Amino acid sequence: MKTLKYYLNKAYQGGWAIGQFNFSDFSELKAIVNAAAKLKSPIILGTSEGESGFFGLEEAVVMRDFLRKKTGLPIFLNLDHGKSLEYLKNAIDVGYDMVHFDGSKLPLEDLPASATQKALQAGNISISKKVVAYAKWRGVIVEGEVGRIGTDASRVYQEKFEIKEEYLTKPDEAIEYVKKTGVNLLAISIGTFHGIDAMGESPHIRLDRLKEIREKINIPLVLHGGSGTPENDIKESVKLGISKININTEIRKAFAQTLLQDLQKGEIVPYKFLPGAMEAVSKVVEDKISLFGSMNGV
Ligand code: G3H
Ligand code: ZN
Repeated sequence: MKTLKYYLNKAYQGGWAIGQFNFSDFSELKAIVNAAAKLKSPIILGTSEGESGFFGLEEAVVMRDFLRKKTGLPIFLNLDHGKSLEYLKNAIDVGYDMVHFDGSKLPLEDLPASATQKALQAGNISISKKVVAYAKWRGVIVEGEVGRIGTDASRVYQEKFEIKEEYLTKPDEAIEYVKKTGVNLLAISIGTFHGIDAMGESPHIRLDRLKEIREKINIPLVLHGGSGTPENDIKESVKLGISKININTEIRKAFAQTLLQDLQKGEIVPYKFLPGAMEAVSKVVEDKISLFGSMNGV
């Protein structure tokens, strides 16, 4: 099987994007992989610290290996939004293909100790460098992040979101970060947030900002908060150089809402109440794969 680097480069050169689909349960995982198999698409499976804490880091690696073998598909595993260096090291040690260090709330550079702050505060750059140093010789890819993605939690919001200007990735900071850390991919904040706006009015991608960043940075760029983003914005962002797109909330929503409806019918047999929720997840993933243009990309 070809490497993740190969597929990211193929997507980057070919003007399409690889989807990262998050899961925390085997039914979701199976449904995601079924969709990828149907459309012959490479995929990245994502688990946050919370999702992998529930599913198990080692269990996720074993399932990836099993599903790769069973389908023959290029299936990769990413530790998504890792905030702790130790946790990322654990994911690397057990066999994840890539890790995402989310130091987006940290200052870019270290903050020296001062009268108000007793100890030095490590910044995004210095921790990212440690992640890269640990990952690199183990053949693991690192995604870094500069700028704040609107929200942390994946849920359905009853309000419209306007991402604050100050949260958007600043091109100069992104260049400095990429140069100093040596990350393989960069997650940028260009207007999306984690979750869905129930009214369907937001978000809109700041294509102008994406263009500015793309012109200055030549590593694959990642779009987080892909759920609920208008199709046209996604298409334009892929054309402008987004090579990986993360989807979580739409999967969770499809799974939970369909499951709830089926359970309300009084069914108690898991192999009878789970298939509906799994089909709903597969449908979401198929639609995204088609939108991102990764079908037949294996
Ligand atoms: O890292 C995960 C993604 O950014 C998911 O965002 O829940 O809005 O799809 P989403
Ligand atoms: Zn994210």
